[in-house]
Amino acid sequence: MTGLGDSWRKVYPAYDKLAEVYERMNMAMTWGNVDRWRRQLASLVPPNAARVLDAGCGPGNMTKHLINGRYVVGLDYSADMLKANKLDVDKVQGVFETLPFRDDAFDVAVLAYALHAARDLGRALDELTRVARSVAAVSVGKPDGRLARLLVWLYVSRFVPLLARLLAPRHVEEYRALKEILKAALPNEGLRRYLGKWLDLEYFGTRGLGAIYMFYGVRRATPRYKTA
Ligand SMILES: C[S@@+](CC[C@H](N)C(=O)[O-])C[C@H]1O[C@@H](n2cnc3c(N)ncnc32)[C@H](O)[C@@H]1O
Repeated sequence: MTGLGDSWRKVYPAYDKLAEVYERMNMAMTWGNVDRWRRQLASLVPPNAARVLDAGCGPGNMTKHLINGRYVVGLDYSADMLKANKLDVDKVQGVFETLPFRDDAFDVAVLAYALHAARDLGRALDELTRVARSVAAVSVGKPDGRLARLLVWLYVSRFVPLLARLLAPRHVEEYRALKEILKAALPNEGLRRYLGKWLDLEYFGTRGLGAIYMFYGVRRATPRYKTA
């Protein structure tokens, strides 16, 4: 199993509590880039993709870039995040690993800063490519190079908790959980190869020293691998 495994339990309750401070911390942690990277992800979605699943939609920060005349469904594990999402789209509570939709319900599944939180990445990809013809994501990656990996580790383990003390003092422990995400992440190149089992990647790139990856891929006609 590739994903957060049991450490998932430490990270998950965090999402329920974070809705209110969430974007403020995102802006600070990414030096103001968080929404620019969402817009870049939205630009990878083909204009003719009419039915879009925003998986891990949270308070709707990605959803707003996707609507643009399309039918969008927001899915999230956290009821509080869904409540904070005031956009006029259908909202569904559910998890990536067991999506409550029929096969091919969507043209594209989009995940902004959410795929890293999959409890089981293989099952999530099985499900995402079952319900959608293509998948686009921006998320927390792990740099391939040793120096960049060390710098990102120090950033997440030392600097982010300091930022949280300033900007989200009631949620410092939740932001410490980002370390678990980084520990569990596949290095970017490994992830790119892993994704190739489900998707023909049309784009895979990184941002922020490799701390962020972004991709768009179309479901392979015959997946090379299906999780048990
Ligand atoms: C960091 S937030 C991103 C929210 C939004 N997409 C954005 O761009 O700001 C991650 C969201 O994914 C949700 N999430 C994480 N893992 C999930 C899973 N396995 N199934 C469903 N939702 C999940 C969390 O509840 C949270 O709202």
